[in-house]
Amino acid sequence: MKLVKLLANLGYGSRREIEGHLRKGRVTDASGRVLGLKDFPPHAEIRFQGEPLDPPAPLTLLFHKPAGYTCSTDDPGDTIYDLLPSRFALRNPVLSPVGRLDKDTTGLLLMTDDGQLLHRLISPKHHVPKTYQVTLDRPLEGHEGDLFGGGELVLRGEEKPLLPAKLEVLGEKEARLTIEEGRYHQIRRMFAAAGNHVVALKRVAIGALALPEDLEEGAWRVLEAEELGLVKGG
Ligand code: URA
Repeated sequence: MKLVKLLANLGYGSRREIEGHLRKGRVTDASGRVLGLKDFPPHAEIRFQGEPLDPPAPLTLLFHKPAGYTCSTDDPGDTIYDLLPSRFALRNPVLSPVGRLDKDTTGLLLMTDDGQLLHRLISPKHHVPKTYQVTLDRPLEGHEGDLFGGGELVLRGEEKPLLPAKLEVLGEKEARLTIEEGRYHQIRRMFAAAGNHVVALKRVAIGALALPEDLEEGAWRVLEAEELGLVKGG
C-alpha cells in the first residue's frame, strides 16, 4: 500500500486531493518531517495536518445514536453519518451500522468495516442478544412476557414466528426486551401485536456490552478490544 492509497482509504480525500495535501506539506511524520509520495512510515507515525491518523481497518465504533437520525444514506433527512467526521463516510472498506435502528430509536449502535463481525452480530443464527428499554403508551397487561417468550408470535404480514424474546417489566409502562434477531421495526410491531404502542425505544446493550453511561447522545468512540469480546460473547 502506498501513502496516497492509505489516506484515500481512510477518507482523507480522493487520490488527487491527497497528492495536493502532500504537495502542500500537510502530511508529516511524528517529528514534523514533510512526507512525499514515496514515503511510507508506520501508520502510528503519520500525521495529517498535525493529527494522528484514524485507525486502519478493521475499525469498529461505538456510537450513542440520538433520535431524529436515520441509519441509511438512502433515506432523506439527517443521517448518523452527519454526526461523525465526514471522512468516515468515505472510508474503504465502508463503515456500516451493525443492524439499523429506526429514526426515533436511540442508544447503542456499533459501526464496523469488519464484514465477519457484522455478519456475526446481525445473523439470528449466532443468537447475539440485543436489549432495549421500551416506554409504552398504555400499561402492560401481564400477558406480554408469555406472548413474546413463547416462540410462536407471528408478526403481521410475516409467516415465520419470532424467536423467543425475554421481557423484564420495569414499571407500569416501562420494560426491557431482549431479542436475538432484528426484523423491520420488530419491537414496535411486537408491542402492536400485544395491543400497545411504543412511545420511546432505546437500545441499551448488544451481547454483554452495555451502552456506556458516560457516552452522551450523539457521541462516539473507537470500540476497545475487551468491549469487542463482550459483544461477541464466547
Ligand atoms: N425494534 C424496533 O422496532 N425499532 C428499532 O429501532 C429496533 C428494534
